[in-house]
Amino acid sequence: MLITFQIQRYDPEKDASPHFEDYEIELEPESRVLDGLVRIKTYVDGSLAFRKSCAHGICGSDAMLIDGEERLACKTLLRDLGAKPGGRIRIEPLKGLPLQRDLMVDQEKFFDAYRSVKPYLINDEPPGPKERIQSPAEREAIDEPTKCILCGSCYSACPVIREKNPEFLGPAAVLNASRFVFDSRDRGLPERLPALDRPDGIWACESKFRCTQVCPRGIKVTKSINLTKARIETLRSIKKKAMGDL
Ligand code: SF4
Ligand code: FES
Repeated sequence: MLITFQIQRYDPEKDASPHFEDYEIELEPESRVLDGLVRIKTYVDGSLAFRKSCAHGICGSDAMLIDGEERLACKTLLRDLGAKPGGRIRIEPLKGLPLQRDLMVDQEKFFDAYRSVKPYLINDEPPGPKERIQSPAEREAIDEPTKCILCGSCYSACPVIREKNPEFLGPAAVLNASRFVFDSRDRGLPERLPALDRPDGIWACESKFRCTQVCPRGIKVTKSINLTKARIETLRSIKKKAMGDL
C-alpha cells in the first residue's frame, strides 16, 4: 500500500528550526516503521538521520515519536498504527533531550543520569567459595528492571521532565538503580543515595504512569520507582531509630 511518512527534518547547519517533509512509499501492513525509514534513506534521501542497530527490539536505539507516542521503530508495524492505503504516519524525535539532527537527539543527559546511580553491583564482602548465590525468589525480585534497554522512551514521555523539572533524574535512571537496590547481593544503596535522595532525584517523580504506559518492554516502571522510594524511607527510619537509641 502507498503510505506517506511525515518526518521531522532538521539540519543544524542549514535550518533555523525543524520542519516536516512528506515521503510517499510503498509498504505492506506488516512492514515496520523502521523498514520505511530505511527505504527512504536508501532510495529517496540519504541525508535522513536516525539511530538504529539491532532492528529487533534489543538495543533501544530507535525509540522515536510515532503518531505522537514513544515507540521503537523496529517493533512498530504499520497495521499496529491502523495505517490504511493513502494514510499518513507522523514521525518525530524523542522529547526532553536536545535535538541533534532529524530524528536524533543528544542522549548525553539521559546517560549521565543513568551513570549517576552507579548501575552496577556494589559489594566489598568476599564472595565466598560459591560466589554470590541467589534463590529463584531473590532473582525474581529484580526481573522487571533487568529488561530495560535504555531506549529513553520513558524519559521522553515523563511529564515531570517536560513540564516541571528538566533536572529530574528520570524514570530509567531510577529503574536501573532499583535493579541493584533490590538485588540480594548488593550493598550499594548508601553510595547511590546522593543521586537518588534529593529533590531532583527520586522524589521529583509524581507517579504519572506515562513511563509505564510507553515502555516498549512492558516494565512497570512507576511501581519500581515507588518500591525504591519505600526502601529509602525504610533506610531513613532505621537510621533515625539507631540515632535515637544512642
Ligand atoms: S524503562 Fe522502558 S522506556 Fe524506559 S528506558 Fe527502559 S526500556 Fe526504555
Ligand atoms: S533497532 Fe535496536 S531496538 Fe530497534
